[in-house]
Amino acid sequence: MENINDQSGRKIDYLRVSITDRCNLRCHYCMPELGIKEKSHDEILSYEEIIKIVKNAQKIGINKLRITGGEPLVRIGVETLIEQLSKLGLKDISMTTNGVLLAEKAEKLKKAGLDRVNISLDTLKRDKFSKISRRDNFCEVIKGIEAAQKYGLEPVKLNVVVMKNINDDEILDFVEFASNNNLIIRFIEYMPLGGETASENFISSKDIKVQIKKKFTLEKADAVGNGPAKYYSIQGGKAKLGFISALTNHFCADCNRLRLTADGRLKPCLASDLELKIDKKMTDDLILESFKKALEIKPRAHNLNFKDNLKYKRTMSQIGG
Ligand code: GTP
Ligand code: 5AD
Ligand code: SF4
Repeated sequence: MENINDQSGRKIDYLRVSITDRCNLRCHYCMPELGIKEKSHDEILSYEEIIKIVKNAQKIGINKLRITGGEPLVRIGVETLIEQLSKLGLKDISMTTNGVLLAEKAEKLKKAGLDRVNISLDTLKRDKFSKISRRDNFCEVIKGIEAAQKYGLEPVKLNVVVMKNINDDEILDFVEFASNNNLIIRFIEYMPLGGETASENFISSKDIKVQIKKKFTLEKADAVGNGPAKYYSIQGGKAKLGFISALTNHFCADCNRLRLTADGRLKPCLASDLELKIDKKMTDDLILESFKKALEIKPRAHNLNFKDNLKYKRTMSQIGG
């Protein structure tokens, strides 16, 4: 398997595969309640097509895969897809999920070959969860976290999108929660990609750290996983924390990934409207050509900003984060 670098010399070995644009939550920073047209079954890639595309991705050196959505667990038969992917000899197969359906699926997913999960959770309070996600599923998510640990989908990471005056009062609670429950927590800067959260609610990783340092000492720590987070450990404590600072300290120079959307578009960058259509009838050669082209046109850096928030073709939920 050759490893082809992109035009900026970056080694691209990580593919994020969105398997559905649908979601059972409606987090306001990600997905509007109304006005999003869901793709029909015919418009999205079948599992067979996804496997074929991943096999071609391996030819350019992709060896780590993350399954995303919308919410990947709402797509029927996801365990079967994982089982087929696990036969391809990839180094790491992970999933990003909101956790609502995880309690019922964790065991099957692990058996099918899923290595680990990242779970989105922005608050430890049930009423606030309902406000942020517009659904009352807090208790299911907590059970999902427990099931992920029970069945060894580890390390389990929690993704917390931090928003000023919404959940920034819970930063220290999250650190304690992680410490007490053997979880890795990642604090994520809100990215303006079609979300309804106001720019005034943005809070930087630097300001998040200021709050944590009031109680804890942070020490730089080794990376865990394949993503853009910068990690720290809490001195004398068990918790490991990550910061994903897409706006204030973007990590594009180290970007190692491409994305495949549920409707068959290869996206060289999360925050760019550039995309290549992978036609359902494409031959292996043409799919491979598309991957090479995606590397050629991959932007050097994103230009995310609040002014352009609503101008992108796709919201976060239609890309998969
Ligand atoms: P690990 O392998 O566990 O490190 O996964 P990850 O952090 O790559 O994946 P996850 O889906 O948990 O993403 C966490 C956050 O990072 C989400 O908010 C993503 O939108 C964001 N993120 C992931 N990749 C990129 C990227 O290439 N650019 C930007 N701007 N954000 C990204
Ligand atoms: N900014 C930052 N992170 C986001 N996510 C969804 N929307 C946004 C946004 N606007 C996160 C989710 C999930 C991951 C896939 O992306 O919380 O953990
Ligand atoms: Fe659904 Fe995740 Fe978006 Fe929330 S952040 S609406 S759980 S896709």
